[in-house]
Amino acid sequence: MSSQAPIGVFDSGIGGITVVKELISRLPNEKIIYYGDTARVPYGNKSANTIVTYSRQIAHFLIDQGVKAIVIACNTASAIALEVLRRELPVPVIGVVVPGARAAAQASKNKKIGVIATRATINSCIYEAYLQKTNPDTEVYKQACPLFVPLVEEGWIHDDITKQIIHRYIDGLLAKGIDSLVLGCTHYPLLAETIAEVVGKGITLVNPAYECAKDFKLVLEENELLNDVSSQPVHEFFVSDGPVPFAKFANSILGEGTILPENVLIKCFE
Ligand code: DGL
Repeated sequence: MSSQAPIGVFDSGIGGITVVKELISRLPNEKIIYYGDTARVPYGNKSANTIVTYSRQIAHFLIDQGVKAIVIACNTASAIALEVLRRELPVPVIGVVVPGARAAAQASKNKKIGVIATRATINSCIYEAYLQKTNPDTEVYKQACPLFVPLVEEGWIHDDITKQIIHRYIDGLLAKGIDSLVLGCTHYPLLAETIAEVVGKGITLVNPAYECAKDFKLVLEENELLNDVSSQPVHEFFVSDGPVPFAKFANSILGEGTILPENVLIKCFE
């Protein structure tokens, strides 16, 4: 496999663009082929079987595009489908959960860690499995926050109602004395400022997207796949529905004009 080949990145929708942002800043020479499953989002309320089926379809599509490695830029798909994809695919695959959990383990001093995520990620128990394997004394307090995804997609980032909903979900975790909080869904970093306001200064917010990009660079290096030829890659974006709102949202994160709506292609699966 050539180190000049693109990398594949996928998410259930648009949240994975937060991971793309970190990848572009850390790996500027890498061309990205992104797939956002905007027609079938959210994954967070679906069964494990469905999440694995969807993830497989997308990963095989990315392999057909010639990618040299894949980033699962979705906590839910990482929690449920990472091991299956690693077994099946001929390229390295990395998810966002392990880098995020490791960063939380490093950040926490009192070993009381909060995790917020979709229902599927919370029910998979993957964060506490990793954190307690790292340190059996770690106490993990978790909360599914299904309303955060639509709030972000609606652009209600700093609204009072958003603050109230954050309180409703997170106050129980704060009462347990957590000193760090994992933003275990790719949409949540977009609410980070507002969450930080609500939880106050004493709590470290952990963004798995940032940690994942750091780890992915190491994976490329270890596999001699890092593209060190200076280039200005033209990234490609595929969605299963709604290329115009996708481009608008993605540009609000990556910078206006980064993606032209006409360059976002539609690809659906049977
Ligand atoms: N991208 C998903 C995640 O990171 C959130 C949206 C969904 O439920 O599909 O878990």
